[in-house]
Amino acid sequence: MRLKNCHNYHDFKNLARKRLPNPIFNYIDGAADDEVTYRRNTSSFDDCDLVPNVLNGVEEVDISATIMGQKLDMPIYCSPTALQRLFHYKGEEGVAAAAEKYGTMFGVSSLGTVSLKELRKYKTPQFYQFYFHKDRGLNRAMMQSAKEAGIEVMMLTVDSITGGNRERDLRTGFSIPFRMTLGGMLQFALKPVWGINYLTHKKFSLPQLDEHIHMSGNPMSISRYFSEMLDSSMNWQDVEEMVKIWDGQFCLKGIMSVEDAKKAVDIGCTGIILSNHGGRQLDGSRSPFDQLSEIVDAVGDRIDVIMDSGVQRGTHVLKALSLGAKAVGGGRFYLFPLAAAGQIGVERALGLMHAEIVRGMKLMGCKTVADLSKKNLKFR
Ligand SMILES: Cc1cc2nc3c(=O)[nH]c(=O)nc-3n(C[C@H](O)[C@H](O)[C@H](O)COP(=O)(O)O)c2cc1C
Repeated sequence: MRLKNCHNYHDFKNLARKRLPNPIFNYIDGAADDEVTYRRNTSSFDDCDLVPNVLNGVEEVDISATIMGQKLDMPIYCSPTALQRLFHYKGEEGVAAAAEKYGTMFGVSSLGTVSLKELRKYKTPQFYQFYFHKDRGLNRAMMQSAKEAGIEVMMLTVDSITGGNRERDLRTGFSIPFRMTLGGMLQFALKPVWGINYLTHKKFSLPQLDEHIHMSGNPMSISRYFSEMLDSSMNWQDVEEMVKIWDGQFCLKGIMSVEDAKKAVDIGCTGIILSNHGGRQLDGSRSPFDQLSEIVDAVGDRIDVIMDSGVQRGTHVLKALSLGAKAVGGGRFYLFPLAAAGQIGVERALGLMHAEIVRGMKLMGCKTVADLSKKNLKFR
């Protein structure tokens, strides 16, 4: 199978499976516990149907969307994800270049493998995904670095107060630094091209953290980072203070309840991302699409409501926008293409998504994303 034969999410996923050592593939694809939430995230889109209007003169359609003051040429962006240079040696550079080409936003994880500063050369808006550390001085220093790098939107992830139980990783022994089981190591030996690329390109590092914590040069593992450095006592007052210090566009990623959505408005956030981290944290939790309408009804006139988790198709994007989301994010929809083919893989995924959204809008009889509404959606 080759990139030119990839026409949808599943094709990219199959190609990524062929190219990646199995522990890395399963790190991307895996989710928490029984992966019930992971499956529901996508199947929830099938509980409703689009109802088109016709004869609306849809020669030209405009699929741009504005979130937190940033104009995106398409209503889906690349959510922040960790460790991208493990998936392909180009990592965040490839994703940022593809996002720039399609005029959309991309997020850079605190566990990103290319520095915020280096990624500023791509002229497209950037989220900085932040975790809250016990050391408040460190939090301030990291926000200051992000301000100096010219980051447009600060994104605090609030659904990862502790790590999810990813059983696939326990089986393969996937961890950073690598501590593979024998079976896991054998899987690396079976994908020598990945190994050659890994060893012959820039040394793996976590620059967002290295600047402050020295992670990759010493044995501080990511699981120790979560358990020892992050602050599980984080509360609404702490975040309110962060919002004030940042003094700009600030969103919370991982809001799921109406109560929390209202609190986010009260403390001055400008956006919320309904998300369950792609099913990787609390298994058995509700899918963002199932929860979207309730939240839009409660706060949609006061804050930008965005969702991620489970989005694989242009029609999923149209359904979320019909319920009032301002835009959607996606993780695996660009990570499998990145693993499959680097930057050109992500470009192909964004190009296909763009074409699907434009085609879907035309078939729906909509000229702009604002034309999509609940009237165009019927639950079974
Ligand atoms: C491999 C992988 C790594 C991720 N790393 C992070 C991260 O570092 N920070 C974060 O806030 N979310 C992270 N996420 C969650 C994504 O930002 C996003 O919420 C999720 O992928 C959406 O679900 P989807 O993959 O079904 O689109 C990660 C997701 C994946 C698949």
